[in-house]
Amino acid sequence: MVESLRHDFKAIFETEEEGVYFAPGRVNLIGEHTDYNGGNVFPCALTFGTYAIAKKRSDKKVRMYSKNFENLGIIEFELDELTYEKEHDWVNYPKGVLWAFSENGYKLDCGLDVLFYGNIPNGAGLSSSASIELATAVILKDLFAFDLDMIDMVKIGKQAENSFIGVNCGIMDQFAIGMGKEGCAILLDTNTLKYDYAKLDIEGSSIVIANTNKRRGLADSKYNERRSQCEEALKDLQVELDIKSLGELKEEEFEKYKHLIKDEVNIRRAKHAVYENQRTLRAVEALNNKDIELFGKLMNDSHISLRDDYEVTGIELDTLVELAWAQNGVIGSRMTGAGFGGCTVSIVNNDAVEEFINNVGSNYKDKIGYEATFYVAQIGDGARKL
Ligand code: GLA
Repeated sequence: MVESLRHDFKAIFETEEEGVYFAPGRVNLIGEHTDYNGGNVFPCALTFGTYAIAKKRSDKKVRMYSKNFENLGIIEFELDELTYEKEHDWVNYPKGVLWAFSENGYKLDCGLDVLFYGNIPNGAGLSSSASIELATAVILKDLFAFDLDMIDMVKIGKQAENSFIGVNCGIMDQFAIGMGKEGCAILLDTNTLKYDYAKLDIEGSSIVIANTNKRRGLADSKYNERRSQCEEALKDLQVELDIKSLGELKEEEFEKYKHLIKDEVNIRRAKHAVYENQRTLRAVEALNNKDIELFGKLMNDSHISLRDDYEVTGIELDTLVELAWAQNGVIGSRMTGAGFGGCTVSIVNNDAVEEFINNVGSNYKDKIGYEATFYVAQIGDGARKL
């Protein structure tokens, strides 16, 4: 793969490359819609992701090309024109990272040529955009010898997404992609950025990702709406409670004070955020105690809460998860990522994986009318130079 990309780089940019880089995609095992509520998340990095090959230039031009969007050809801009341009399409992600680097005082003294190729299914909620962002950050740090660490780059990736792209996401995706570790998931407290690796000791089982293949459509606007509903609920609670985020509350405290939240819908949104956060801590404890059955049950509970209280699932995700729950050898299954389409994540006994894919796949197609796609996930390392 890398050899053929080197060859492509030379053919497209007519020069030799200086470095090859990789940033993974991510899947979240539990802790959904908690990262902008000061809660815990438990994601891991995948072995598929974004490859990037780069070389510095002697002028101030930046040229980028993606093997995934070959019809768009080389997209070119000047270093002093770091603004969002609709017609620059996917290039706005790496461009946003160049912008965020410069906002933080990391100025480039010359431009660069970059070739990207990603094998993350696009728009599937496995964070192809955060993957491009972190791949870009790793390139810039390496080629320009900037003095910053991975957590700085994670924050810069999030800043690009929030302030350049305009998606109000939390820090989970960039963190999982930057800090991922082979065979491990990361318990991250998004309030303090304290984190711990937990070995995914699920011997005899596999992590199976199923893509609904539903176009995400309104996902961004509904995502931002959920965020503001949680913010409103927090404001109502702050009338009596001295808290900075919903993540500070335990279930009992929430039940005691939830009457302060004026809007009935917002009560359910906040309930999800509080319960999901505690559920995440319990799930990691279960995993550490090798109680994989309990871990799976908490994954199922997470889905129910996202379906009924947070309302971010939809017929496609619910169908995949409900079909999964009905199969033999399934330890747990839930939607993963922002929702409204995208993927589910299931833990399945190894000897049941093939039947799982056949049964869930054919029943999904019967009900929804098009195919789902399945991947048996491998947990890999975070963004790096290869
Ligand atoms: C998207 C966002 C993340 C997180 C999840 C939901 O992936 O980018 O920050 O909020 O949704 O858990």
